[in-house]
Amino acid sequence: MQSKIIVMQVSRQSVSRMNRRNKIILAVVLVAVVIAVVVTVVVLVTRKSGEDTRIICDKSRNSDLPFCDSSLSFDSRIKDLISRLTVEEKIGLLVNRAAGASVNVELSFYNWWNEALHGVADNTAVIGTFFRPPTEYSTVFPQIISLSTSFDMNLYLQIANSTGNEARAFHNAGNADLTFWSPNINIYRDPRWGRGQETPGEDPFLSAEYARMVIDGLQGDEDKVGYLKVSACCKHFAAHSLETDRYSFDAVVNKQDMADTYLPVFKTCVENKVTSIMTAYSGINGVPATANKYYITDVIRGQWGFDGYIVSDCGAVDNVINDHKYTKTESENCHAVLDAGVDIECGDFFTRSGYLQAAVSDGSVTEAMLDTALYRGFRVLMRLGYFEKDDKRPYKEFQPEDVDSETHRQLALDAARRSIVLLKNDVTESTGAPPLPLHHLDFASNGASVALIGPHVNASTVFLGNYHGIPSFIKVPLNEIQRYWSDVKWEAGCEVDSFENNRLIEAENLARSSSQVILFVGINTEIEGEFGDRHNITFTGLQTDLIRRVLAVALQPVIMVVVSGGAIDLSAYKNDPRVGAIVWAGYIGQSGGEAIADVLFGNYNPSGRLTQTFYDTNFLDQVTLQDMNMRPVNGSPGRTYRFFTGNPVYPFGHGLSYTSFQYTFASEADVQIPQSSSGCTYVVVRVQNIGSLPGDHSVLTFVAPPNAGLEGRPIKNLKDFQKLHNVVASQIRDVQICLNIDMFKLANLDGEFEVVLGEWTLMVGDITKGIVIY
Ligand SMILES: *[C@@H]1O[C@H](CO)[C@@H](O)[C@H](O)[C@H]1NC(C)=O
Ligand SMILES: *[C@@H]1O[C@H](CO)[C@@H](O)[C@H](O)[C@H]1NC(C)=O
Ligand SMILES: *[C@@H]1O[C@H](CO)[C@@H](O)[C@H](O)[C@H]1NC(C)=O
Repeated sequence: MQSKIIVMQVSRQSVSRMNRRNKIILAVVLVAVVIAVVVTVVVLVTRKSGEDTRIICDKSRNSDLPFCDSSLSFDSRIKDLISRLTVEEKIGLLVNRAAGASVNVELSFYNWWNEALHGVADNTAVIGTFFRPPTEYSTVFPQIISLSTSFDMNLYLQIANSTGNEARAFHNAGNADLTFWSPNINIYRDPRWGRGQETPGEDPFLSAEYARMVIDGLQGDEDKVGYLKVSACCKHFAAHSLETDRYSFDAVVNKQDMADTYLPVFKTCVENKVTSIMTAYSGINGVPATANKYYITDVIRGQWGFDGYIVSDCGAVDNVINDHKYTKTESENCHAVLDAGVDIECGDFFTRSGYLQAAVSDGSVTEAMLDTALYRGFRVLMRLGYFEKDDKRPYKEFQPEDVDSETHRQLALDAARRSIVLLKNDVTESTGAPPLPLHHLDFASNGASVALIGPHVNASTVFLGNYHGIPSFIKVPLNEIQRYWSDVKWEAGCEVDSFENNRLIEAENLARSSSQVILFVGINTEIEGEFGDRHNITFTGLQTDLIRRVLAVALQPVIMVVVSGGAIDLSAYKNDPRVGAIVWAGYIGQSGGEAIADVLFGNYNPSGRLTQTFYDTNFLDQVTLQDMNMRPVNGSPGRTYRFFTGNPVYPFGHGLSYTSFQYTFASEADVQIPQSSSGCTYVVVRVQNIGSLPGDHSVLTFVAPPNAGLEGRPIKNLKDFQKLHNVVASQIRDVQICLNIDMFKLANLDGEFEVVLGEWTLMVGDITKGIVIY
């Protein structure tokens, strides 16, 4: 600005009248003016084209190249981009911390590894935190094992959609990339598994339905918008379900279990256009999952038609050579993994000490193999709009104000309430009513006193589970209960997972002098988590002693609130009349304490139903964690409600309400379905609320085959679930159940599904109906 004014002033003077000295001054000024103008123009031009240097195709070196030309096909753009990369650059782009490129094109660092299991998660191990202004917090929804108990497809979708919107907003703010490695849909095969909490539980059908909603919610409507919102990833392929020895473990899985337990959810992911699949650490029948060409190339891509990118679990490429000892040299290892069909390595085997570079030099890996892997990764980035210029970028509407928004906080609270399971609520003799909900006790008027006892009374971060974000607040039970009753006394009594701070005597004394005790017990993600399977399913530390002492002196039946992801052996309390009620509240997210208080006081009528079998401790002695068999063989009692031959403490699907629901079939007649049929044969179930309170209710429909539980047949299979919201007292709702012939197929010993003829049983709640397949 200043230099232009000088130019105008100078030009008004008459040059002819100037003396020599003036001419020199003028020349100096003119040179200065020219330099200033040039510098200004250069600054303006570069600022314009590099307005947002995070956007690859707004970089001046890239913007005119074909790969940035949105009028061309994705295919030709990707090929153009790959053709401009050096071998070294290609290798650097195939690991999770993708280095970018600078020789012929300018690609920024790209982080393939982002997580959004139940809200955008912190990923400090990889790139430092995402959680910096303007996205300092994310909404932390309930951990999946709890969320799944809602059996509510719409809730699953709303949470995944909100998470995807937050994820895109994190990206738009420059704080995350676009490929998110969620959901975890491995079957929760054994209660000891530390990461079972990340999954929707033990049932393949529910897990597949859940996966569909997550993919839709995270990826958005690509057909309508033209681009993916963020990329989802189904993990860990396949049969992953333990942490102990996971780097070298070989999962021995028979064809029948593979077909009807371990593979179906992944197949559903592919059918629903998931854009990524992650391989497991373990081996599958002798071949490491990360070098398993049969599964990756023949099954996932070949038979199922997967067209996204395959990523290794983090460090799994190292495990192929160092733990599985499947390959002998580094070059051979690179070949085995890429040849199997893995595209992106999470880890740094490819880049460390030039291993992949050497494999290319010695001919073990061709440059074409690098190009194929890059193509699959870049294609997903293209579909995300990552290579569009700023003016063509999709999903720009998601901004920091959409993160941790009031709407999402409300959804997280609502979801936490719906994720709580009421396991027990027996009528108390002295009052003639069950202990819950608590509103019938008028503590103010009768001078009764309430004691909250146990190490989870003041639980906070425990509600976040694992793979969580940073919430802007966490609601703790103590404070939230005090909002209903200000005058509560409390005592931790002991710690969750240590023998320190023994205050059992103090707890016992408090229990003795209180009219109602609520126990807050359970475990945490130090006890069950990644790297940590449990070896027992009992309460840890001094908690069993604590409970024993409290029950011995409590004046009224005690209410137990149990916080955990996996099942805890509750057999000692199920039939003990001194325990009036048991509420299973898992790692239910940022509003955990508030949701628990709402359920205890009847502000929300619980409707969760277990998605995992609650076994007793004997189960662990009968089958090892490493035994992958689902069916009862070799002394195993069988796993999950589909095959377990013992008596569970609380079965899959168990969950009480403060009201009761009665089921009747609209028609009495048996149903006949010819094996040649197509489409739906409908059965209508009338569900009536026969209690006095309104409530939500999940209707679960199972089918049991002829000879159920014999000859490797399942006892029953879940085939349908529907959520009824706010059914008021005496209201009747009709539930239509579509039966189709595929529900009456079972996997045989060769892993092939066949229709099983004969008399099946339809089971809805406590009513059954014959179904004849002929
Ligand atoms: C997902 O969220 C967006 C933004 O709030 C909304 O417009 C869209 O309808 C939601 N999608 C679903 C399936 O709920
Ligand atoms: C509850 O825990 C928080 C930390 O999570 C702590 O700051 C607070 O003092 C605890 N409350 C009580 C009453 O101990
Ligand atoms: C149960 O396992 C936990 C850790 O998972 C351990 O701390 C505890 O000592 C074990 N308890 C028993 C009775 O073995």
